[in-house]
Amino acid sequence: MATDPIHPPPGAHADWTIPQDWACYSPREHQVWDELFARQSAMLAGRASAVFLKGLDNLRLSRAGIPDFEELSERLYRQTGWQVVAVPGLVPDAVFFEHLANRRFVAGRFIRRPDQLDYLQEPDVFHDVFGHVPLLSDPVFADYMQAYGQGGLRALNFHALEKLARLYWYTVEFGLIREQGSLRLYGAGIVSSFGESVFALDDSSPNRLQFDLERVMRTRYRIDDYQQSYFVIDSFEELLHQTAEADFAPLYRRLESLSDISPNAIIPSDRVIDRGTQAHASCKH
Ligand SMILES: [Fe+2]
Repeated sequence: MATDPIHPPPGAHADWTIPQDWACYSPREHQVWDELFARQSAMLAGRASAVFLKGLDNLRLSRAGIPDFEELSERLYRQTGWQVVAVPGLVPDAVFFEHLANRRFVAGRFIRRPDQLDYLQEPDVFHDVFGHVPLLSDPVFADYMQAYGQGGLRALNFHALEKLARLYWYTVEFGLIREQGSLRLYGAGIVSSFGESVFALDDSSPNRLQFDLERVMRTRYRIDDYQQSYFVIDSFEELLHQTAEADFAPLYRRLESLSDISPNAIIPSDRVIDRGTQAHASCKH
């Protein structure tokens, strides 16, 4: 998401989509996918949400090589009516929301280089497909993502995108869920990251707080390091319910009068699951 509303780059359609050109991936590029896939799926057993792991299985993402979006979309469409489309990189907010509102997930088609397995600034096909697509095969999460896109289109009129983006960040990208009494990962930014898959769940540094819509929308976030706070939902039904049924117009008005909250802060109304030491952030030079 997020760039200025400009025209699509040369070669892209009016909605910014481009062909994936699956046949053009090199054997080395497929191999990078396979290495990332093997490493990450081994790491996530017992750590990721059962819903995510089921989605991974449902979509047969364990087959070798970078998935072909057409084939992946056919399977996904049969399950929840979602499709995956390729885009050249970041797209304008309105374009991003329009795709989500119409059950199309926009994905980068490039894959990181072999020397970038652990860190990448711009989302590549591994982050976008491995991280995001499994949950889109779950009917409830699929509805949540569509509701988010619809909410985004409305937020454009309220000039409230910064607040709404925090909801995406702390759920779709970095969310935790409670399943059978234990915390599990579901955010795409975590499940596609080798380091953060451990940090988010096991490290004593970050806060783990019960999800609250208004609280999350007031909370700034880090884009340069692991998160200092993670928010925990009880179920995807609850997340969908809280966001699809919220009346965002009064919420945005109220948020205008409330101050932002630092990424590492705990406030008196928080339901604290783990009070983090914040040692990770403070020992940085
Ligand atoms: Fe993402």
